Amino acid sequence: MTDSLRVDGGRPLVGEIAVRGAKNFVSKAMVAALLGSTPSVLRNVPEIRDVKVVSSLLTLHGVGVRYDVSTGELTLDTANLRSADAAHIADHAGSSRIPILLCGPLLHRLGEAVIPDLGGCRIGDRPIDFHLEILTKFGATVTQREDGLHLSAPNGLHGIRHEFAFPSVGATEQLLLTAVLAEGVTTLHNAAVEPEIKDLIDTLQKMGAIISVDTDRSITIEGVEQLRGYDHWSLTDRIEAGSWAAAALATRGDIFVKGAQQRHMGMFLNVFRKVGGEFEVTTDGIRFFHPGTDLKPIALQTDVHPGFMTDWQQPMVVALTQARGLSIVHETVYENRFGFTEALEKMGAQVQLYKECLGDKKCRFGQRNFRHSAVISGPTPLRAADIEVPDLRGGFSHLIAALAAEGTSTVSGIGIIDRGYENFRAKLTALGAKVEA
Ligand code: UD1
Repeated sequence: MTDSLRVDGGRPLVGEIAVRGAKNFVSKAMVAALLGSTPSVLRNVPEIRDVKVVSSLLTLHGVGVRYDVSTGELTLDTANLRSADAAHIADHAGSSRIPILLCGPLLHRLGEAVIPDLGGCRIGDRPIDFHLEILTKFGATVTQREDGLHLSAPNGLHGIRHEFAFPSVGATEQLLLTAVLAEGVTTLHNAAVEPEIKDLIDTLQKMGAIISVDTDRSITIEGVEQLRGYDHWSLTDRIEAGSWAAAALATRGDIFVKGAQQRHMGMFLNVFRKVGGEFEVTTDGIRFFHPGTDLKPIALQTDVHPGFMTDWQQPMVVALTQARGLSIVHETVYENRFGFTEALEKMGAQVQLYKECLGDKKCRFGQRNFRHSAVISGPTPLRAADIEVPDLRGGFSHLIAALAAEGTSTVSGIGIIDRGYENFRAKLTALGAKVEA
């Protein structure tokens, strides 16, 4: 498959597409299977590159992995679990940051774990300090070697009391995956409570874990001695659903997203409505459509759940280039998530970036040198351009811009979009887009 797409834009996207399980849950649930002494079955699993990467990492550790693309059923058998070396892990992980999450489960099951140098999307620094701090607190010993970090737990892992300075999603998952089999009780304050984390907690509970979540962002885990496998249906990918919804707005289209779940998209739907977008919720999914009149500008801040998710920001900014007036977007989760707007400007959008917090929340980046607020003035017709995609969400946003723009654009580096958008080329064609590899 070629790594670029020619997009003949300026046509509304109209029709129906289906969205399956959430990338940000499925990859973690696959890691959770390592904790079980019997096989696990994960359902509604999409055929995306991140699933392939985690599958190969698990295979490398001796896990039996079987995936049926058509039914979305993934079976994981840990009967022959074994250690792997850093070089192989690095080869299989590619740019994924999943290896850091394998640490807790591997320390419990095998007594050791390795993390090679980590990649992930190029958004800010994406450090792993929270993860290492927790693992050390649980009792892990971390040694830096040439090939990466080596962890062991000579005296076992023991429950901790911890509070995050910032409710990190990955670090909350790290803590859950480690605490469930640690000896004693673990309490976490200022935890992330994204729906994908709630689904991970449900999965762990099915495996035999004892976890309670309070209304004040605290989580208590009572360690148990053993866990079994699970059988679980993944929640829908709310980021993918929101991305298609933004595509409907930006292209003046009408898209029914089969599988989209209102209960996980509340804040997105509020914003969609404030911009002027129309939607209809049914039991099967959500229909998102352009109102036919001008879109309205808004002031928006990204935040941890239950706020407006940072991954919805980029596709929504493309739609905001078509709203009449000035929109303000304040990114409070990542310091450097507006790089993708450079390509939008090349296509005719007017986007000004600011270092100040343009919103009432004073975020961690306000006093530092990060251009983390944007003012978008519209509507500006978008024109075709040749663009190189920067990262997963920015990449899909560039595709949306190319679909909205008059003329033929070439979008290169689209392979990265396969990490989180299942069959997006076929879905685009089903929605009437004129795209060619
Ligand atoms: C996950 C999601 C990603 C989403 C993000 C925030 C997955 C695979 N990815 O990423 O799509 O955008 O949550 O909802 O689930 N941080 C530190 N130190 C750490 C860890 C994080 O400073 O050790 C900082 C990050 O730099 C960032 C913020 O915390 O500024 C949020 O990161 P985090 O919530 O951990 O994101 P991920 O779990 O990597």
